[in-house]
Amino acid sequence: MARLVCPETGEEASSDTLEFQTSTGGLYDVLHSFPTGLTRELFDNRVAAPRAPGTSGVWRFKELVDPDLPSAAVVSLCEGNTPLYTSPQLSDYSCIERLWLKHEGANPTGSFKDRGMTVAVSRAVAAGAEVLACASTGNTAASLAAYSARAGVRAVILVPESSTATGKLSQAVAYGARTLRVRGGFDVAMNLVRELSRTGEVALLNSANPYRIEGQKSIVLEVLQQLAWDPPDWIIFPAGNLGNCAAFGKILRELRELGLIDRVPRLAAVQASGAAPFARAFAHDFERLVPVEPETVATAIRIGDPVSYARAVRSIRETEGTVLAVSDEDILDAKAAVDAAGLGAEPASCAAVAGAKKLALRGVIDLGERVVCVLTGNLLKDPDTTLAYHEGRLGPAARANAPVIVEPDLESLRAAIGDGNS
Ligand code: F0G
Repeated sequence: MARLVCPETGEEASSDTLEFQTSTGGLYDVLHSFPTGLTRELFDNRVAAPRAPGTSGVWRFKELVDPDLPSAAVVSLCEGNTPLYTSPQLSDYSCIERLWLKHEGANPTGSFKDRGMTVAVSRAVAAGAEVLACASTGNTAASLAAYSARAGVRAVILVPESSTATGKLSQAVAYGARTLRVRGGFDVAMNLVRELSRTGEVALLNSANPYRIEGQKSIVLEVLQQLAWDPPDWIIFPAGNLGNCAAFGKILRELRELGLIDRVPRLAAVQASGAAPFARAFAHDFERLVPVEPETVATAIRIGDPVSYARAVRSIRETEGTVLAVSDEDILDAKAAVDAAGLGAEPASCAAVAGAKKLALRGVIDLGERVVCVLTGNLLKDPDTTLAYHEGRLGPAARANAPVIVEPDLESLRAAIGDGNS
């Protein structure tokens, strides 16, 4: 049976609780008793037809993600099974020859959030929850809205009034979630929804909910499988509320304990320099977290007081990882490169590539090391930022590629095609 255990105090809660805060204000981890005899082959044998009806890149790893949940309780949209790309253009750009891009934008709602949501929504509905809620910079909201619709339960989402990307907001309303634009940033919304969930009025589906973390572990599981279980040297990802950092460290620990890998990749968490409380704490040996007033063009990670801080510290320490910050300019430059390579991703995702390049140029990543960057969200999530960049309002004029209005005749078309702007 799964147990919910506070890693600091050992305090335990029932596995079907909907209250995820411990008495000391900490968060529970899910501790599984894994089935015996787990092998790589067990999981590899399920890869044969990953896009076959009903297959999920999360539930393919059920024994490692949620061994106890009855199959009938699973709420799934066939999440996961995302591509792992190589890209000569991005290898050149980042100065990393052996580079892979794990594109989580290929998930059903366009971000990695679907992996955690399938587990946490399944668990919440099985525990009898009727109203599911989250605070979000946008992607968690879109994902919760979709999985709630799939399960036939109500969703209430709180997003920052002014900084939520258009694609994400439109998804949330389209899937039918009650969408509340809170006057304030993500951290304010987060505190409000946690308070609301403590009264039992709503079930909390943010990554304070440990079942979200369990689902997000599958990003690493898929990467390892796609690399024939030969772990990369680095896994690099954008970091905001630090759920992924927590999840990646947890599954690497579990896989090593189970003997499914014998070497652990180093984790590199990349923040935007205007929203970098984790990077600052890292620079002071994780003495303490000092919340900041966040500001960045990468609105997905515009977070000043990350909820999963303690778990994330453990992940970085255990993997001899690192945390760094990159400027908005670097993020947009990396985004232009990711987009121009034909992969495309939202701004926050590209912080991973900007961070990888910085680590390579500094010599922290050695020549020849194998590096996986996680592209966390789809290009279509934030069309306003993309257009602003290519209309020259956000980026350098030289990189712009603004759409051109033409008269409807061939002569005008030829003139427009030939002007060298495209
Ligand atoms: N990348 C994207 C595209 C995200 O949406 C998020 C987080 C992150 C990276 C950071 O991941 O929180 O696990 O460190 N988005 C959350 C949301 C906060 O509400 O959608 P993290």
